Amino acid sequence: MRKSLMLVGTCLAFGIATPQLTTAREVTGSSPAAREAAADHWAAETEARMTDEERFSLIHGFMALKLPGFGSKAEAPWPSDVVPGAGYIPGVPRLGVPSLRETDASLGVTNPMGVRPGDTATALPSSLALGASFNTELAYRGGNLVGREARAHGFNVLLGGGVNLVRDPHNGRNFEYVSEDPLLSGVIAGSAIRGTQDAGVISTVKHFAFNSNETNRHSWNVTIDEAAGRESDLLAFQIAIELGQPGSVMCAYNLLHGDHACGSDYLLNTVLKKEWGYRGWVMSDWGAVRGPDFAVKGLDQESGEQLDEQVWFDAPLKAKLVDGSFSHARLSDMVRRILRSMKMAGVTDAAPAAAVDAAEGAATALEIARQGIVLLKNDGALPIAATARSIAVIGDKAQIGVLSGGGSSQGLPAKGWSYSNPIGGAGQMSAWRTERWFAGAPLDAIKKEAPQAAVIFNPGLYPSDAAALAARSDVAIVFVRKYETEGFDSPDLGLPYGQDALVEAVAAANPNTIVVLETGNPIAMPWRDKVKAIMAAWYPGQEGAQAIAEVLTGKVNPSGHLPITFPAAVEQLPRPTVPSYGTPEGTPVTVNLSEGADIGYRWFAKKSLKPMYPFGHGLSYTDFTYSDLRVTSGQAVTASFTVRNTGKREGADVPQLYLQAIGGRTAARLLGFQRVSLKPGESRAVTLTIDPRLLANFDTGRRRWRVAGGSYDIALSKDAATSVETRAVTLKPRIFGW
Ligand code: BGC
Repeated sequence: MRKSLMLVGTCLAFGIATPQLTTAREVTGSSPAAREAAADHWAAETEARMTDEERFSLIHGFMALKLPGFGSKAEAPWPSDVVPGAGYIPGVPRLGVPSLRETDASLGVTNPMGVRPGDTATALPSSLALGASFNTELAYRGGNLVGREARAHGFNVLLGGGVNLVRDPHNGRNFEYVSEDPLLSGVIAGSAIRGTQDAGVISTVKHFAFNSNETNRHSWNVTIDEAAGRESDLLAFQIAIELGQPGSVMCAYNLLHGDHACGSDYLLNTVLKKEWGYRGWVMSDWGAVRGPDFAVKGLDQESGEQLDEQVWFDAPLKAKLVDGSFSHARLSDMVRRILRSMKMAGVTDAAPAAAVDAAEGAATALEIARQGIVLLKNDGALPIAATARSIAVIGDKAQIGVLSGGGSSQGLPAKGWSYSNPIGGAGQMSAWRTERWFAGAPLDAIKKEAPQAAVIFNPGLYPSDAAALAARSDVAIVFVRKYETEGFDSPDLGLPYGQDALVEAVAAANPNTIVVLETGNPIAMPWRDKVKAIMAAWYPGQEGAQAIAEVLTGKVNPSGHLPITFPAAVEQLPRPTVPSYGTPEGTPVTVNLSEGADIGYRWFAKKSLKPMYPFGHGLSYTDFTYSDLRVTSGQAVTASFTVRNTGKREGADVPQLYLQAIGGRTAARLLGFQRVSLKPGESRAVTLTIDPRLLANFDTGRRRWRVAGGSYDIALSKDAATSVETRAVTLKPRIFGW
């Protein structure tokens, strides 16, 4: 009951509507409560009929890559229903239990190491782009698309739902995550997960928890104040789980207070299962299990077992059953959780799925890219004037594609990669470390969208050469990029390959210089004051070139808002450098997350620091005004206001509501937001219901949320640093929920 109430609250607050798509739930046609009861019943009954051999076969599985280096399983004959990909767990056909066929990831169905030769799928923009859209319906649509594509490829588990908070802009995997804020991350990831599961595919949420860096990721030990953890990373997971109801939670590689996350009794048993009442199963990340006792600590399934030192959830765990240190009841619980999630997502009776129309995939990828592009700066250079006769397009690979992020989430779209550059290096993930560009060139798209102009390309190899072209052009657009990948953090926020010098030279030669960033993180921009416009395109996915050209030329009005703070300098960060960076992989390191829940914009507010660009920032080609802010206090705190488009163009805005202070003390928190599309002159009344956890602190003694009571300053804002109207409300003290 508690869970479903929370879910309703969150949905109301953000106006999340389920788009009209055919879903497995509609096909089965029953109410959520009836489906839960049916799933529980089937799981219990089926598990009771299993032999122990069958039970054990369901709690571990292998990485389905028949490739050298992937252990004995790579050579062994495989069951006939394996779909090569991230993972496989055999089913129990005599009881109607399907095998689990797992694929990565949130950004699209992947084809790791080309294990399914020639097989392609839609490659969506990075999750940061989705976060920048602040659009939960778009997140649902993306998640649903990837779910249907997964199913059409023969998979029934999507290893999606990346929701770790962006704590550190050096983290190489931030592009797979949504934002630095627990609310935004939770509702965007939760909506995507829901979309996936509505397609009849089990989704994960990952990587549980505090997996904030890739450096020494298997030996990175996090310490954090407990309340701060509950109010930040864990709150993001909690919201995503309530909203998305993922069938599985993937635990992380890192350690928390000395325990591996996948063997953390606190994370898995206490918080996830006991306090949040999570009923699905916990799967390990690949190669994250260190012993059979992880089963007792709350881990339900060992994934990618050939990456572990040995298959812990087979003989070693069986031995524990015999010696009594692992109970049969717990074994049954592990199996029932898996079975229950299968039934809930509908994978036990899923009919073969039709292939997803490539055009639909492309349309979704394009829409996310359009809504995710953030216009950071514009001193009148954008949109490019229809009178511009000559446009210089400058920058390595802008003539062939857009950059994508690397690692297990790397997709292979139908149009393919136009270029791959193996970087290599040391460490487990170095084989995956390859810069890759999706086909579809910004140069071509700009030519198409600006037919009146002569569009000339310069690769930017030599700044002076590029500057010469820029000098004789009306407009110069410089594409800069920074590759990020799973397995590696960046040592700093600088651009590689001398790109800063290129921008400086072009900006000196042409007053109308525009910079387009293809990055997976904030970057340093020493030339920021010398260029006219800057646009963050992130890794924009397979249709990214088109989206960039549309925003540059004004066909699309930019509407993305930063899901992460761009610092003015790394010295402003809680950790200006990455602890243990550069040490051999596996070096033990303990990192105290002393910023606690004050991540990103909250940290900047607390320390009175001015970032380069604040969280929530994003410009438009039109103007919006806000008025009539009213905040009601009571059990449910609501805020209502009016947004008006006062400019000359149709556009979408994201008004944001922040807590600014409690009892006069700075306490910055995003409380709500709403993406609103408006025609010129049009206005819209918006009402937001605030999740009470965002006004509370976690009381670790009572293990409840506590609103202290007193005066709360709530602001309607353009971004985390720019408030328009503020109201003070008095809240009564209150203790509630988990
Ligand atoms: C990643 C997971 C991924 C898994 C399977 C791991 O290296 O951390 O996110 O789902 O591999 O490919």
